[in-house]
Amino acid sequence: SAAIRQDILDLIAHLPEEVQKVLEAVRDTAEEEQCSVYVVGGFVRDLLLSVPTQDLDFVVEGSGGQFAQALMKRMPNGKLTQHITFGTAQIIFPDGSHLDIASTRWEHYSFPGALPQVEESCLRDDLFRRDFTINSMAICLNTDRFGELVDYYGGKQDLQQGKIRFLHNISFIDDPTRMIRAIRFAERYYFSFAKETLDALYTAIETGVLGKLSVERFSEEMLLILKENNYLAMGQTLVKCGLLNAWFGKELAWNFNLDDAEESVNWSLNIRWLSSVSRMDSAEIESLLERVCLNKSLRDETIHYIHLRESLKESLSLSEMDRLLTKAPKEVVFVLARDESYKHKISECLKAAQRINMSLDGKALIKMGVKQGPEIGKILDRVRMAWLEGKISTTEEEQLMARKWVKAQR
Ligand code: CTP
Repeated sequence: SAAIRQDILDLIAHLPEEVQKVLEAVRDTAEEEQCSVYVVGGFVRDLLLSVPTQDLDFVVEGSGGQFAQALMKRMPNGKLTQHITFGTAQIIFPDGSHLDIASTRWEHYSFPGALPQVEESCLRDDLFRRDFTINSMAICLNTDRFGELVDYYGGKQDLQQGKIRFLHNISFIDDPTRMIRAIRFAERYYFSFAKETLDALYTAIETGVLGKLSVERFSEEMLLILKENNYLAMGQTLVKCGLLNAWFGKELAWNFNLDDAEESVNWSLNIRWLSSVSRMDSAEIESLLERVCLNKSLRDETIHYIHLRESLKESLSLSEMDRLLTKAPKEVVFVLARDESYKHKISECLKAAQRINMSLDGKALIKMGVKQGPEIGKILDRVRMAWLEGKISTTEEEQLMARKWVKAQR
């Protein structure tokens, strides 16, 4: 209706200027290309919720590829990538943001000059193939319809009532990642599930739909969860509904502790991940690593975490501890230092390390007459340990001790 359209125009007018410019460029390109174009999905959802959104998805009733090429004339900073077989194109900007352009009609090239009804039914199909009603809305960007909401499936009402509702009951079978997405959206916006959607989620878990999901796609979804502010609640829900256990085929001691919510907002992805596995024993974490696809840094840190945790179980001298902690990635130390079992040991060692105020370095030792080579490292190590253990506490004492050792070596 006219009122909804006016609301949407107001919402668009409050968007950052660069986003408005993109929408206008798309509008003008649609005039040139004589086709209908819509912004769809997450952008529409977030616009209606007045929350910021990042990427823009467009659907063109016509050739998406041709449209993207025409749009490029107005996007001097963009880089165009086309996926001809899927009828999609992407324009990527230097800051990493991107525009996705898809065609509704790419399967129908054999029918040029299709009637408007046909075009409309294409958009309807395109939107019906999506995951949830709240993600199935479109806004027309053509000049004469700019700001017009297309909402075939009750998305606006579900947004207002805070409901996650699928569009058809084989949605989770079509694409099992939607089960994880459903929980992500529910906890992100504090929405609840429509009854039949929740029932379908449980049925899908019970019937083993997750078995169809590849390790890569599952991992992508898990990482998307870990990037969300409210990831702890999402993780808890994933555990509670049995999805995580079903995926891993056993009950794992996940740690999504809501008491950490405030602090965890500033945690890096690696800390969030390490912390979420911190209650599992090492064998479990190792078996988990076989079921997820992590980038090298995350995988290496997880392995380092297991090794360091095992070492800390032994009784170690202060210097052994110091050696391990200085070698470990900061994030691994951070997560272990929050663990009741190792907190004390680690804080003592870190406190002792604060006493270290080394003035000596390799060059200084060479001046004292030490030959270049492994000896230098050894002496520097001994000096560091003497500081750590409180055997020296001033630069003078440090110099004296080093000279003694150098002399003894000759
Ligand atoms: N989509 C879908 N099924 C999926 C993934 C995506 O139907 N498994 C559709 C939804 O309509 C979604 C759109 O594709 O809105 C874009 O997907 P994506 O960019 O992953 O999600 P957004 O909705 O933009 O959500 P986010 O805010 O998390 O980026």
